[in-house]
Parts: sequence; C-alpha cells; structure tokens
Amino acid sequence: LRIAVLFGGRSAEHDVSIMSASNVVKAIDTSKYEVVPIGVSRDGRWYLAELDHDGTLPKAVAGHGMEVALLPGGKGRLVAIAPGGLASELPRVDVLFPILHGPFGEDGTVQGLAEVADLPYVGCGVLGSASSMDKDVAKRLMREAGIPVARARTAYVGEPPSFSAIAAELGLPLFVKPARQGSSVGVSKVESAEQLDIALAEAFRHDRKVLIEEFVAGREIEFAVLEQPDGSLFVSLPGEIVPAADHRFYTYEAKYLDADGAVLRVPADLPETATARLQEIARAAFLALGCESMARVDFFMRADGRVLVNEVNTIPGFTNISMYPKTMAVSGVSYFELVDRLIEHAVA
Ligand code: DAL
Ligand code: MG
Repeated sequence: LRIAVLFGGRSAEHDVSIMSASNVVKAIDTSKYEVVPIGVSRDGRWYLAELDHDGTLPKAVAGHGMEVALLPGGKGRLVAIAPGGLASELPRVDVLFPILHGPFGEDGTVQGLAEVADLPYVGCGVLGSASSMDKDVAKRLMREAGIPVARARTAYVGEPPSFSAIAAELGLPLFVKPARQGSSVGVSKVESAEQLDIALAEAFRHDRKVLIEEFVAGREIEFAVLEQPDGSLFVSLPGEIVPAADHRFYTYEAKYLDADGAVLRVPADLPETATARLQEIARAAFLALGCESMARVDFFMRADGRVLVNEVNTIPGFTNISMYPKTMAVSGVSYFELVDRLIEHAVA
C-alpha cells in the first residue's frame, strides 16, 4: 500500500508537524507500505517530497518543485504539476496519513478533503476533528456529557469582554487561548486588565474566537486513546508533564525549544483507582466529541483529587517529547505497532 504522509501545513504548528512526521515515517513498516511524503507549505500548497537515502523525511517543506493534488472521487488518484505547468498523473495512493497539527490539518478540513477524494485516511473523521479542535465547542459537548471541564468565557473579536466581570466570575489569574490552536500557541496567563488586553490581541491574531479560562492549579495528566479493530477503545496508562519552574506554564518554548522545559513521567505516579477513573473519563470524552481512531486526552488533577479535561487532541504530537506514543509504549503498544494499527484502522 502507498501511504501519502502529509507534513508541515498552514498552522502555527508547522514545525511541530515536521518533528512529528519524521518520527512517524521512521516507524512505518517499509516491507508493507511505501511512503509518499507530501510537504504542505505554510500557504497550504502540496509538494511532492522525497525521503533521504536512509528513509528519513526532509527537515523542511521545499515550497517549490512538483505540486500535487488529490482528485475528487479519485480514490487516491494523484495529479502532479511540474514547474512548467505540465500535468501528469502519478501512481495512486491508498491511504492519507495527515500528520498535521492545528487548523487546516487537525480540524476536519483535510479530513473533508480526503472524504471528497474518497480516500481512506488515518485518524478522526470530520466532526470529531472539528469539535475537538474548537476548545469552545469541545467544552460544551463535554459539559453536556457530564465531563468536568474548566470554567471559561468565550470572547469574540470585536466584542471585548469586561475584565472586572470575568475576574469576578473566574478569579485570577486567567488563561487566554485562541479557540482553535495547539501547542500553547497564542496562549497567555493574565493577572490584570492591561495584561488581558495584550493577551486578547495576541490570541485574536490566531482566531476570531478566544477562550478566557479559569486558572487550574494541578498536575497535568494525559492518556492516549486508540480505537481497536472491534470498535472498543484502548486507553493507555497515564503520563504526566512536569513543567520546569522557570516556565510560567507548559508553553510552546517549554515544549519544543527548551530541552529542560519539562519532565515527562511515563507512566505517571497515580493510584490505580484514580487511573481507572480517569481512563473512564478519557473514554467518555473521546466519544462525546465524536472521535475515531486516536486521540490524546489531557487532564488537570487538583491537589484534592478533583479532575477536569483540559483538551482532546485528535492528531497528537509524535515528536520526541510527545506523550501519545510514550504512553502507548509503556502500555504495551510499541511505536511501530501503533503506526501499523493506525494505518490498519484507516483501511479496514
Ligand atoms: N498540539 C500538539 C502537537 C499536541 O497536542 O501534542
Ligand atoms: Mg494540545
């Protein structure tokens, strides 16, 4: 089978996607599958890429050369346009594996493109992707399903909220987040009215809709969920992220730029009863949001044991510091087996 691996992409997580995709590509069993790497530029165009001689993905999207497109209804028919404008048809691909984070990749849009192309794809479908990406919609769906979430107000561009009203309702500090982003891009911690203005301006650079959330002090615990061939959900052991004290929260920098930005504890030190309870909530969140195939469910756990779901990631990171493959590995599913199962799920 020929697997079209999408990497890069239009979102602010372009570079994170490349880190994730290079790991996934290394874990694809080349005796069963042929990798067709497609780099998505920051402006959203698709370019055929080539693996290095040792099978590794390029470290950047070229942004020039052979452009490719999937044909609607083509079941994987792939057309290439050479720089001179000459179009030709390439061998078809059998599966699309989008390893794109954030908008235009993890949010149902690329999934919709695959649906229109009538091509099997790895990961959640259109609705599960869209509802999980949108932190405002996700919260509503989870709350409705009885899943605890942090209290928040939604702010819309052009409708500035009142700091004093929000501070009175949610307390201080506050977290300001673009509704549809990942990797903490555009997220700020706020203690004052001035800081709120700056934080909103920053968040609105990324989205027209922004979440202002109460601060939750607690441990960050994450679980990997993987759909089994029979439709049942496998939930991993917990992983814990312990951000370094000099980072105000688990920022983009702490995640990817600072080697000592955080410590990952896999598995997390959590009593069995708490693990079982959180696994049950992870399962419920996955289902409430309409997820399929895979997702990582992120929790906060307060000192008194109360938990809430922070977010659900439908294309979780596969970088060296990412939790999804690590928690699966300690739960008995190796990186290779994980990638294999994801592809098998797509074509089943
Ligand atoms: N959004 C990043 C990639 C994650 O959730 O792992
Ligand atoms: Mg995330």
